[in-house]
Amino acid sequence: MGKDVIIACDFDSAEKTFAFLDKFTGKKPFVKIGMELYYAEGPSIVREIKRRGHKIFLDLKLHDIPNTVKKSMAVLSRLDVDMTNLHAAGTVRMMEGALEGLTRPDGTRPLLIAVTQLTSTDQESMERDLLIKEPIADVVMHYAHNAKLAGLDGVVCSPLEAGKVHERCGEKFLTVTPGVRFADGDIGDQKRVMTPAEAKKIGSDYIVVGRPITAAEDPVAAYERCVREFVD
Ligand code: C5P
Repeated sequence: MGKDVIIACDFDSAEKTFAFLDKFTGKKPFVKIGMELYYAEGPSIVREIKRRGHKIFLDLKLHDIPNTVKKSMAVLSRLDVDMTNLHAAGTVRMMEGALEGLTRPDGTRPLLIAVTQLTSTDQESMERDLLIKEPIADVVMHYAHNAKLAGLDGVVCSPLEAGKVHERCGEKFLTVTPGVRFADGDIGDQKRVMTPAEAKKIGSDYIVVGRPITAAEDPVAAYERCVREFVD
């Protein structure tokens, strides 16, 4: 898979999701299904979006003991998504277990991506709440390195970190980056943002874009603008 724009379908029902996807006549964008939609509708929403011909990033961010994650990933692998994820904080052993569980008997599997530190965590909360005293940039790189050691395909990170992750973990290690906004757009609650064109320049492999597309007056035009700036 090459560079692509992934639309974050952050809706709370199948009805709203399909009303949105129906606008894309003839096009089948790569979509992200997160906890909100998955918990609202269950695995059937994944099957139905897949049946309609979309690629799917199932963003459930697993984090539990290695055995539980391994067995849960084995169940998720049957949904035939293209990409899924977990928290690198669950340790290298947990990530290795996840990879094992995700791999189907024929050796194929979805891409597996690790969340490093959530972008909602800052230096202060990491030190105070998690007792991690290192600089957050080093923690992100350390987690990325652990994900690579465990054999994962890449990390979710800020587009601002994508270049450094590639330097440390190699060009082939994927960077999936949310926090994307148009130069003339609203930034909402995202703090550190980049335009699709900047994300391309810094080397993001996939951008995850929610509200700039889902809340746009013309979502299809907004999606096409992202593709023009990021992929073409
Ligand atoms: O609407 P917006 O473009 O901000 O959506 C970004 C998407 O990426 C949301 O689904 C959000 O949960 C997700 N995300 C993020 N920051 C992270 C990890 C995931 O914004 N660090």
